[in-house]
Amino acid sequence: MKRSEFTQIILHHHMPTEPQQTRATAFAPINIALSKYWGKRNSELNLPVTSSLSITIPTKGSKTTLVWTSQQTQDSIVFNGEEIDRHSVLAQGITQFFDLFRPTHRWHLHTIIETNIALAAGFASSASGFAALALAMNDLFAWRLELSTLSMLARLGSGSATRSLWTGFVEWHCGQRDDGMDSYAAPLLEHWPEFCVGLLDIRTTEKPISSRKAMQDTMNTTSLYSCWPEKATHDIRLLKHAIDQKDFSLLGSVAEQNALTMHAIMLSSWPPICYFLPDTIAAIQRVWALRQTGLDLYFTQDAGPNLVLLFLKKDANTVKQSFPNVEIVSIFDDRIKP
Ligand code: PMV
Repeated sequence: MKRSEFTQIILHHHMPTEPQQTRATAFAPINIALSKYWGKRNSELNLPVTSSLSITIPTKGSKTTLVWTSQQTQDSIVFNGEEIDRHSVLAQGITQFFDLFRPTHRWHLHTIIETNIALAAGFASSASGFAALALAMNDLFAWRLELSTLSMLARLGSGSATRSLWTGFVEWHCGQRDDGMDSYAAPLLEHWPEFCVGLLDIRTTEKPISSRKAMQDTMNTTSLYSCWPEKATHDIRLLKHAIDQKDFSLLGSVAEQNALTMHAIMLSSWPPICYFLPDTIAAIQRVWALRQTGLDLYFTQDAGPNLVLLFLKKDANTVKQSFPNVEIVSIFDDRIKP
């Protein structure tokens, strides 16, 4: 099935002829997977091989405003105050996303994106970007879709965007169907007010290889990938148990090992894929050294050099002393400042 057919079905074959209002704004946060999405069973529909489970970082994300006038003849995009070249990767990604909803009707939009995260540096910028876009379109075209359905539309832009429509813990169910209609996300109900993360910027320049390509190359070139589906499925079970029991050591160790397994598989692909920089390794070793002293501190790492530290609120001061540049977010307490 093609992406455009998928959107036709979701919108019950009522593709929008034009927006229902002139302006809509939405915010979506980034999320960090504790058990990663790594590998697609269908790349046209962004269907994952396994389910994944994330935690939302509520203070970081993208605010997207869509503006429609009937005179607009092509899409235009302003990103953090600057007009973006239509041929850039960012502009192409957004235009292609709109194309899924306008097979014949030629409406165009002016898109204004404001984000407080570095683009493509491994802090899930595309996740919040496509989730915010899906939310804003839902409003602009008055679709009135449920969040789980919107998560499937966001999925077409970027897999991890599926999980960026809620706060707290979110699970993306991989689904079994070929048409992807059962591959959507849903929030877990559990709250864990003591849960903190620390965003550790190692480097905010663009990563050398996109996660999309890295995922594909990993699946195609290393036999180690065959161990991933079972590992990820098992980890999600353990993580849910840890969340349910508020067992932080279990959660941290499962999340850290899940990330390291993903990176180990990438290292074994050919050509090798390595997102570690020397400063990443140094920070990882500091985490391990602190853990040796009894601190309940863990990390996770996406497809980029940056780390996300995982710890409880009682240890926030110690973490700050050990990593002065860290940005600490209390996952269930902090909110974006309007
Ligand atoms: O959504 P994508 O295509 O950028 O892939 C995300 C991949 C990871 O961030 C490494 C893992 C995840 O589950 O978010």
